[in-house]
Amino acid sequence: MKVPFVDLKAQYLSIQPEIDRAIADVIADTAFISGSYAKKFEDEFSAYNGMKHCISCANGTDSLEILLKAMNIGSGDEVIVPAISWISTAEAVSSVGAKPVFADVNEHLLIDPVQAEKNITTNTKCIIPVHLYGNPSDMSVLMEIAGNHGLKVLEDCAQSHGAELGGKRTGTFGHCASFSFYPGKNLGAYGDAGAMMTNDDDIARLSRAIANHGQEGKHNHIMEGRNSRMDGIQAAILSAKLPHLDDWTNQRILIAEKYNKQIVSGKVVKPIVRENARHVFHLYVIRVPDRSAFMRYCSEKGIETAIHYPTPLPLLPCYAGQRFMPADFPVAAKASAEIVSLPMYPEMTDKQINFVAEHVNEFFS
Ligand SMILES: Cc1ncc(COP(=O)(O)O)c(C=O)c1O
Repeated sequence: MKVPFVDLKAQYLSIQPEIDRAIADVIADTAFISGSYAKKFEDEFSAYNGMKHCISCANGTDSLEILLKAMNIGSGDEVIVPAISWISTAEAVSSVGAKPVFADVNEHLLIDPVQAEKNITTNTKCIIPVHLYGNPSDMSVLMEIAGNHGLKVLEDCAQSHGAELGGKRTGTFGHCASFSFYPGKNLGAYGDAGAMMTNDDDIARLSRAIANHGQEGKHNHIMEGRNSRMDGIQAAILSAKLPHLDDWTNQRILIAEKYNKQIVSGKVVKPIVRENARHVFHLYVIRVPDRSAFMRYCSEKGIETAIHYPTPLPLLPCYAGQRFMPADFPVAAKASAEIVSLPMYPEMTDKQINFVAEHVNEFFS
């Protein structure tokens, strides 16, 4: 049996007529960039999240960068980011001329609020919690810390579409939120796409302008911006997929429950779902000893696995100049040597889930 890490084709086949029609409509209307399809998706996605503004853009990395700019964060400013994330979270901070300051993570690999607070200086302007793997960060504590220090909070929701904490959606706690619709995300386009979300009228207005060459109305450039607009085809695909998101999410949660039940080896640390959290399992990540041998074994058995992420951000070569040591981020450093992501996508069959769980148990027996 083959168990791919994700199977985007299976999802396409399950909704093929809707997707094909959406793409054909955009072509027939020649609505290729921004325009009515992007506007429709923005309205639908802000309604889905119960938020006032959704502004579409070209990808998730841009959405982080544009929001930082819209909050006037730049040279001389510091932004606190977790030590484990995809590089975009830190990269966006550097791109606007500010300095990413890394805080160690907690046992869930989410930014540790205590470590975040320790890193606050007079230059700190913002904290970016990442709801990594689809698991909500500890937003009530982070918002309190941010409030006490007059900081902005930008939620990186690239992996957490539909996740909740205490019944409240991720992306609705902070001053603003960024989303990626990279194809493999829980809500994925058929190319690059992203969005900014906020209830703040000023952040929304500036974000919209920055993403479209600084324009507020045609040829009225209130500033220099950039070209970061969503393609009509991506917007139409996202509109076609959004009504399915909750079903797909429930399916992911069910698969995680099955993995959690069926993986019984005491050597494997499984993801913990906190009582008040709706973890949407963009990734199902376990921690294991002897990871390389385990991944080799999985590969031989036809099971694809991956690592998210093998190196904590501050220990990447691009930050070598700051001379960080693993001991500076003990939780992230230890975890990144043990984590491995198992196949996870809504269309997985019970046979595939059982096959993966059996082989995890067999290897660690
Ligand atoms: C946590 C996180 N932030 C930001 C991004 C950036 O998104 P994009 O790939 O759409 O630029 C990603 C996507 O890979 C991500 O996982």
